Amino acid sequence: MSHAEDHAGTRRDFLYYATAGTGAIVAGASVWTLVDQMNASADVRALASIMVDVSGVQPGTQLTVKWRGKPVFIRRRTPEEIEAARAVALTDLVDQGAENNNLTAEADASDQNRALDEAGEWLVMMGVCTHLGCVPLGDGAGEFGGWFCPCHGSHYDTAGRIRKGPAPRNLPVPVAKFENETTIKLG
Ligand code: FES
Repeated sequence: MSHAEDHAGTRRDFLYYATAGTGAIVAGASVWTLVDQMNASADVRALASIMVDVSGVQPGTQLTVKWRGKPVFIRRRTPEEIEAARAVALTDLVDQGAENNNLTAEADASDQNRALDEAGEWLVMMGVCTHLGCVPLGDGAGEFGGWFCPCHGSHYDTAGRIRKGPAPRNLPVPVAKFENETTIKLG
């Protein structure tokens, strides 16, 4: 197979993968290869926004989708997870910024500024550890019941805020919104 044919095949695979929407489960804590967006071909850049069907996501579970070459965690939190996140004082946080691309840079890291909806049931974050880019483990992992990155031991709470370990910042919240009751638009 020529290099050109090989490239085209890879691109087709990626498009299928990305447009599959709710597929793409990413497991484990492997180092995620960061895609250089500057080198992305035009059709890949066209996937700047994707729709994710979240109708099958039950409370206490999360979906991981691939978007712009990186994993995105979409978690439907339980009332206990929301309560735990909202009980934390800002002064206890390592990174007191919301790190939310839907808000201004000055927004604080209160749980209300991290969640997608007012009730706080939905949390959408890039699944990339802010230390060196591993994919953290979820489903209540770590000492704070949220996510844990075993690469060097970073613990994130139920709002994805860094609480312990070498990671310097909260897991970033990408541009996201509910398109309708069961669909989240990323980008
Ligand atoms: S990459 Fe996550 S702790 Fe180092």
